[in-house]
Amino acid sequence: DLDLPDISVAHSNLTVLEGGNVTLSCNGSGSPVPEVDWTVNGLHSINTHQSNVYWPNIHSINLTLVNVSRDDNGFVLTCISENVVGMTNVSLQLAVLFPPVILRLDEPERRHHTCIEFTVRGFPHPTLRWFRKGHEILQSEYIRMEMEHYQDYLEGCLTFQNPTHYDNGNYTLVASNSLGSVTKTIYGYFLEPPFIEDEGKLFNCLFTFVMSIAVGLAGFGFVFLIVIFVLINKYSRRNKFGIKGPVAVISGEEDSASPLHHVNHGIVTPCSLEAGPDAVIIGMSRIPVIENPQYFRHGHNCNKPTTYVQHIKRRDIVLKRELGEGAFGKVFLAECYNLSPTKDKMLVAVKTLKDPTLTARKDFQREAELLTNLQHEHIVKFYGVCVDGDPLIMVFEYMKHGDLNKFLRAHGPDAMILVDGQPMQPNGELGLSQMFHIATQIAAGMVYLSSQHFVHRDLATRNCLVGNGLLVKIGDFGMSRDIYSSDYYRVGGYTMLPIRWMPPESIMYRKFSTESDVWSFGVIMWEIFTYGKQPWFQLSNNEVIECITQGRVLDRPRLCPKEVYDLMLGCWQREPQQRLNIKDIQKVLYALGKATPVYLDILG
Ligand SMILES: *[C@@H]1O[C@H](CO)[C@@H](O)[C@H](O)[C@H]1NC(C)=O
Ligand SMILES: *[C@@H]1O[C@H](CO)[C@@H](O)[C@H](O)[C@H]1NC(C)=O
Ligand SMILES: *[C@@H]1O[C@H](CO)[C@@H](O)[C@H](O)[C@H]1NC(C)=O
Ligand SMILES: *[C@@H]1O[C@H](CO)[C@@H](O)[C@H](O)[C@H]1NC(C)=O
Ligand SMILES: *[C@@H]1O[C@H](CO)[C@@H](O)[C@H](O)[C@H]1NC(C)=O
Repeated sequence: DLDLPDISVAHSNLTVLEGGNVTLSCNGSGSPVPEVDWTVNGLHSINTHQSNVYWPNIHSINLTLVNVSRDDNGFVLTCISENVVGMTNVSLQLAVLFPPVILRLDEPERRHHTCIEFTVRGFPHPTLRWFRKGHEILQSEYIRMEMEHYQDYLEGCLTFQNPTHYDNGNYTLVASNSLGSVTKTIYGYFLEPPFIEDEGKLFNCLFTFVMSIAVGLAGFGFVFLIVIFVLINKYSRRNKFGIKGPVAVISGEEDSASPLHHVNHGIVTPCSLEAGPDAVIIGMSRIPVIENPQYFRHGHNCNKPTTYVQHIKRRDIVLKRELGEGAFGKVFLAECYNLSPTKDKMLVAVKTLKDPTLTARKDFQREAELLTNLQHEHIVKFYGVCVDGDPLIMVFEYMKHGDLNKFLRAHGPDAMILVDGQPMQPNGELGLSQMFHIATQIAAGMVYLSSQHFVHRDLATRNCLVGNGLLVKIGDFGMSRDIYSSDYYRVGGYTMLPIRWMPPESIMYRKFSTESDVWSFGVIMWEIFTYGKQPWFQLSNNEVIECITQGRVLDRPRLCPKEVYDLMLGCWQREPQQRLNIKDIQKVLYALGKATPVYLDILG
């Protein structure tokens, strides 16, 4: 008459207060009467009393835990009952209740995902609340708490989205459960207060400062230079070239205060171009041409014939409708006759210059020459000018879908049903492969610009255009400052800087280079992968300046693959020389894009 042991325990789960005592009993029955035992290996609480009681057919064992420890929270106790027939066991889990303690509260780390890390222990799990200046911090897009629940502790982060100096201060964590409550405060330091208070003040100051120095230097330098010049001229003709240095620096400073503004250099002859104006604004996009007078040595040498700008007759241009208006004039969709040898007429975009002054006319001419030299499949095509009568006209290829920023927004998840009063096409949301395709094309245009030593200074999706079959080109009609004025930071009344697209050295020192364009390209990729969101949209201009100059970068967009975000980070290296090369970026993007085919049928 043999039986497998049967087993019963008083509790299934046992909840006990820390420091308390508890007795667990376990009955084993069977035939023959089994051996019964509790496994206590690893138990922290004291367990001196194990008493055995024998009933008829029942072997009962009581285990008493004294001064129960919080370290036994979650401990699984097993009672084993065994006789010759076999073994049975049953397990129960201890739950030890204790008030919360804050084990760790770290000062925020200055990374771009700034977080105050914490570990709080307590059971039942405490609720956590954060206070600052006596007010509870409510979770928002900018501050939120992320945490993981473990057996008897919580571990997580109070995460700040792009914190600024406004977030500096004492942060108090209050953790409470049914047994008590605990608080701890930490000083959260995120950013120094900015060095400017009012918009524009800094730059005005800087500008005034630089100007007064420049004027001072110029005055002093003039006298000084004349003396030196006379001396040097007298003793050595060679050293004369050394004088050009400081003079060039001073004039460079002056221009650098207004890099995006039309700069008039007085007399304009083809040779004055070679003399190296620092900023020439190109018509279609006011692409400022800068930094490298080398370009003119190669392309615009005085010894070579000047660029031939194609002239188009006014009667060949038939305006159809207005596309937009900027400070300079209007842009129209037009039909142009006799432009293409294969087609009788074609659609073009014409930019008009209203009431041109003499200087404006000269700039116009110079822009047209530069544009004529910029020919690439990913730069908007410039056909020529029409100067017989008023207004002056520049003729560009027509890009059906308009600027890339508008296009991205119209093909994002938030796209409205009506865009410009016209119903959207269904399933127009861009996919990854299309995003790669767009980015690769812009990169290709930039590779070309950098090969021509052009520094664009205002690369952004608003300054790219979209044509048929998802064809994207760099170029715009100079209307961005009017249409997208919130993307610019107005400095000193007339200069508008696209600070959200600018690297620290451009913001701080107005240094623009191929590398600063690469930074902007990183921002373009971010725009593409966010369907045209404004970079740092949650921050004011002053906060953006602060963030960028302090080395913070944009977060990874939700849709953005890691490889692409790595590229962005490569564009956003603080040191210009450490940024990726645009050629390499283009290669990587191209390779990534090839992984999935492009569905060109997205839009006819
Ligand atoms: C164990 O058996 C005894 C005697 O029958 C009984 O009084 C006690 O309640 C039992 N305990 C459990 C945990 O079943
Ligand atoms: C006992 O505790 C375990 C683990 O905490 C749980 O899954 C189970 O539902 C509990 N059982 C009872 C009866 O409370
Ligand atoms: C109970 O245990 C805690 C540590 O877990 C110890 O500090 C305390 O002195 C103990 N109390 C008694 C009465 O043994
Ligand atoms: C309890 O019994 C199960 C099978 O019923 C066995 O896998 C387990 O190892 C036993 N536990 C102990 C502590 O003996
Ligand atoms: C933060 O707390 C510390 C100590 O509690 C105090 O000395 C300091 O003044 C507080 N700082 C602010 C900004 O309230």
